[in-house]
Amino acid sequence: MTAPEPARCIVLISGGGTNLQALIDAERDGLPVRIAAVISNEPQAYGLVRARAAGIATRVLSHRGCASRDDYDRALARLIDEFRPTILLLAGFMRILTPRFVAHYRGRLLNIHPSLLPDLRGLHTHRRALESGARVHGASVHFVTDELDGGPVIVQARVPVLPGDQPETLAARVLQREHLIYPLAVRWLAEGRLTLGDDGLPRLDGQILDRPRLLEDEEAPAEGR
Ligand code: GRF
Repeated sequence: MTAPEPARCIVLISGGGTNLQALIDAERDGLPVRIAAVISNEPQAYGLVRARAAGIATRVLSHRGCASRDDYDRALARLIDEFRPTILLLAGFMRILTPRFVAHYRGRLLNIHPSLLPDLRGLHTHRRALESGARVHGASVHFVTDELDGGPVIVQARVPVLPGDQPETLAARVLQREHLIYPLAVRWLAEGRLTLGDDGLPRLDGQILDRPRLLEDEEAPAEGR
């Protein structure tokens, strides 16, 4: 029997692209996706350099000079659809998306967010976690819906907040875990194990995910614990 075709995937970025790099590395290590293109709204995004180094097509679609958010998102969707992706991944893409755009990719559009959603939606999550006195912080992968950082959460990784942590040290610790949970969720989606039902509920292997999976639990069997 021949192996199924890898899922065609587009990654949207605006910045450094370490999550993109984690996906590129995971693809090389057997993640069943093919990253068909990386698209950035920022021409200087370092993630574009990472993509080119990996031989992946890149496109820049600047939002500057675009008359409206709707115009931009229509142009973005046209660009994306030229690559005929089955999966669309936001990896540090710093734009709010229109409902029309989100609906077009419903169930195949994921985002990674640096907090334990539903806590700390929006920006500056690491600073806000420290200010709140939280002992635990982390990252989440979720389906994208109209609600900013509000779609159903699929998998999370928790990290301890340590004495003396600064936003930068905490961010670095969270980012390491992001690089594990994003490829994990993408694998589930690419393998058809992860779906978003018409009822708005995420399902993994046909079971409703009434709470996010935790990276710690996913890693446990592999480590024989
Ligand atoms: C990550 O913290 C991600 O969770 C957030 O934006 C950041 C992107 O980092 N959405 P990178 O560009 O992948 O290094």
